[in-house]
Amino acid sequence: GRSIQERIAEKVTAAKLGGGQDRIDKQHKQGKLTARERLEVLLDPGSFREYDMFAEHNCTDFGMQKYTGDGVVTGHGRINGRLVYVFSQDFTVFGGSLSSAHAKKICKIMDKALLVGAPVIGLNDSGGARIQEGVESLAGYADIFQRNVDASGVIPQISVIMGPCAGGAVYSPAMTDFVFMVRDTSYMFVTGPDVVKTVTNETVTQEELGGAKTHTAKSGVAHRAFENDMEALQRLREFFDFLPLSNKDAAPVRATALVDPSRPVPALDTLIPSDSLQPYDMKEVIHKVVDFEHFFELMPDYAKNLIVGFARMNGRTVGIVANQPLEASGCLDINSSVKGARFVRFCDAFNIPIITFVDVPGFLPGTAQEYGGIIRHGAKLLYAYAEASVPKITVITRKAYGGAYDVMSSKHLRGDVNYAWPNAEIAVMGAKGAVSIIFRGQKDMAASEKEYIEKFSNPFPAAQRGFIDDIITPSTTRERIIEDLTVLDTKDYQGHKKKHGNIPL
Ligand code: COA
Repeated sequence: GRSIQERIAEKVTAAKLGGGQDRIDKQHKQGKLTARERLEVLLDPGSFREYDMFAEHNCTDFGMQKYTGDGVVTGHGRINGRLVYVFSQDFTVFGGSLSSAHAKKICKIMDKALLVGAPVIGLNDSGGARIQEGVESLAGYADIFQRNVDASGVIPQISVIMGPCAGGAVYSPAMTDFVFMVRDTSYMFVTGPDVVKTVTNETVTQEELGGAKTHTAKSGVAHRAFENDMEALQRLREFFDFLPLSNKDAAPVRATALVDPSRPVPALDTLIPSDSLQPYDMKEVIHKVVDFEHFFELMPDYAKNLIVGFARMNGRTVGIVANQPLEASGCLDINSSVKGARFVRFCDAFNIPIITFVDVPGFLPGTAQEYGGIIRHGAKLLYAYAEASVPKITVITRKAYGGAYDVMSSKHLRGDVNYAWPNAEIAVMGAKGAVSIIFRGQKDMAASEKEYIEKFSNPFPAAQRGFIDDIITPSTTRERIIEDLTVLDTKDYQGHKKKHGNIPL
């Protein structure tokens, strides 16, 4: 007979070939990489250590063939030298569908990741539950869901959707911290176009229903979309570098020798238009304040009135949240509140300081917002900021009106450092609106408006009361924030002991 060495070699070869060359060719023809090729791009060369290559499913019904490894490649590796656990579904084996054995492999690496404190990245490319296995495969999904929840807030979890992800399969990515998609080759939906047609009589393509564009611009399910597998994985390496390995670890500090922490930024002194109704691009403010103008934005096409993402200041990771005056004048609404709240909570869970740039004329008015529940959705952002115990630094660049002033990391929500730029207007509302209410029916409205502007449309009322710690020259913003981050490094705030709060959902 064959030696054990020959038998091992045979199995390894079989595992590496997945569902066979024809199916690999089909995968390539669609512009997709294979499960193993993807891991090669994602991980540092030679760092991948595979587990359970010899796993096989134990379903003998329907004359099913066994494939070594059973449709998913799992293990650990390194990204820029830092540990990460990975799974990569192999569409060439039963369409990457999830069997009991496949689920067990994923659960194993999730358990290991939790034990040692390292992130999990899942590369999803799967036709869903392995139909032949019935409830066994549904059990497999639930075992993964439970681990997603157990790991939430302990280790970062990232999903990349690189093919189909349908039915129950969507709920594991949905519970991870970040979902990235690949344009044109990935889609996510709970029920596919055929079922939609039968039930609601809507005609919709896979791409329209659950493609990258839908989820990054309409539904807010995905955080970023990329052109192809290669770009998605390379940008994921860049993204990974901003994150700590766990809630007990600090995010990596990068390139401090090259950044000038006390560099003044003169361009910021002239960036805000003198007419307070004129918009400007808040992203310019962000780029100019952070290291190397390097800002990794999340959800750039969804709720554009609020900007969120990661950057570094003096080499250390910070979370940025900022109103965008270019979009709906920077008003808060349902979608931006939810977008901001989830981001703030991620930062808080993983000890990442939050820098907030404020230029907000208030909440967006209208029946669509009220009927949609802006009260409870807006409360999410308020709750998230109030709950966050990481260093919170706030810069009011221009307007901070009404309840939105309170929400945007105000002093009252235990903001650590709150600054205003010289032209900041911190008030219950803009001068015109205010005057039309409090001086209703009076003759000299123009004079009243002038008086109101004099009194309230400036940073002094807030500064006099200590709600603003200082009025700073915009060009010194970077320097001041970096100094504050150093001071706040040892911040230690312990809230009340509780099982968990009840954030309005
Ligand atoms: N269970 C078992 N096998 C599956 C499967 C599943 N859920 N999904 C796909 N496969 C198999 C197919 O039978 C096919 O096998 P073959 O290569 O031996 O012919 C192979 O995976 C590739 O699937 P195919 O349908 O040829 O690929 P496609 O790119 O044309 O379509 C899907 C992909 C995902 C749209 C399609 O396979 C599909 O609809 N699958 C079922 C999805 C589903 O309802 N899942 C259960 C809900 S959770």
